[in-house]
Amino acid sequence: MQEIQVRAPSGQYSVLYGRGALAQARPVLRTVGNRGWVFVLSSPKVWKHWGMVLEDGIGGLDSARHIIFDDREDAKNLRTVEKVCRQLVRAGADRNVLLFALGGGVVGDVAGLVAATYMRSVGLIHVPTTLMAQVDSSIGGKTGVNLPEGKNLVGAFYPPLAVITDPEVLSSLPKREYRSGIYEIIKYGVIGDVELFQFLEHNLDALLAREASALDWVVPRCIRAKAEIVEHDEREAGQREILNFGHTVGHALETATHYRRFLHGEAVAWGMMGATLLSHFDGGLPEADAARILRLIARVGPLPSLRNISAASVMQAMRTDKKSRDGEVRWILPRAVGQVVRDVKLWGSPVHTLLPLLPDALRAARGAK
Ligand SMILES: NC(=O)c1ccc[n+]([C@@H]2O[C@H](COP(=O)([O-])OP(=O)(O)OC[C@H]3O[C@@H](n4cnc5c(N)ncnc54)[C@H](O)[C@@H]3O)[C@@H](O)[C@H]2O)c1
Ligand SMILES: [Zn+2]
Repeated sequence: MQEIQVRAPSGQYSVLYGRGALAQARPVLRTVGNRGWVFVLSSPKVWKHWGMVLEDGIGGLDSARHIIFDDREDAKNLRTVEKVCRQLVRAGADRNVLLFALGGGVVGDVAGLVAATYMRSVGLIHVPTTLMAQVDSSIGGKTGVNLPEGKNLVGAFYPPLAVITDPEVLSSLPKREYRSGIYEIIKYGVIGDVELFQFLEHNLDALLAREASALDWVVPRCIRAKAEIVEHDEREAGQREILNFGHTVGHALETATHYRRFLHGEAVAWGMMGATLLSHFDGGLPEADAARILRLIARVGPLPSLRNISAASVMQAMRTDKKSRDGEVRWILPRAVGQVVRDVKLWGSPVHTLLPLLPDALRAARGAK
């Protein structure tokens, strides 16, 4: 078992990483000094696969103490937060309650916002069950839900008391969901970790096959990378923004398609390709580096098409995104594999030129050796 410390300004917590971590959750309850009832918040699918394992790991809960909710992206909204809070009230949960968020990023974001606000805040332990949640959303304390106008527009920074990350839970994750997390791992390589990028170039097939050796190398490395970034800039006043590489266009694609066409990582994959092309056209990214980024993304697998998405709707969504200021889009662009610049303003409307080019760029990268 590895223990990775996150020393965030709002609170320090550890991420426990290892095979079988879920079944050994009980000591964590002691570590966080729990005094109240424990509730597991989860989704039907995740609960079916892993609910009992966690329950046994915690040491047996009576059946009333889990709350199951829909974790589709289009249910990641205030209505779901309200429903969960009301169920907690009806079940008698008081201010000492401890919530386990067992699921992917959607469960984590919703349960996180519930924990931040229920009775003005209660204890939270993340138990991420997707690759995406293990390498990204369970660390850093961002919680939030979507509005029809845009993604993650209502939320709070709320650190968990602990994170329990067990790679064994990934065995039941559907292939497409698993690949979605790999795009976010590629992001870590591009924004600051050349060695990780090279590892992925050499071991992508092992990672796609969910081989333990590949996962055990990659996942703790991403956790450490994210921990280090949030330790220095928890509230995204500066450096943390680089984690949004690929998310400028990515979030806009999700919003423009009402969160129904793309998995988060898939939208980010298109977004990273877009930022890579823009940076290359702009003269800031050498062709060889651009080709390596596009090629690695293309090797992961198919992406949902961009058909019938208008550049105007993407631009509109980009302007209302949290990353924009005064309606002006700020880009995070790669300058080399392992290096990005943030806060770049581009003139005109690059999305109109960019969108039609992306499918061809993906096809070309697939054909490239
Ligand atoms: N808070 C943050 O810092 C942060 C960071 C990145 C992403 N996010 C958010 O995370 C969300 C995406 O999360 P995600 O990619 O984890 O997907 P997800 O939460 O949508 O889960 C994907 C699907 O997989 C199922 N699932 C989850 N774990 C499973 C398992 N072990 N076995 C079988 N099925 C399983 C879920 O029920 C769901 O149907 C987005 O809303 C995104 O905005 C938040
Ligand atoms: Zn993301």
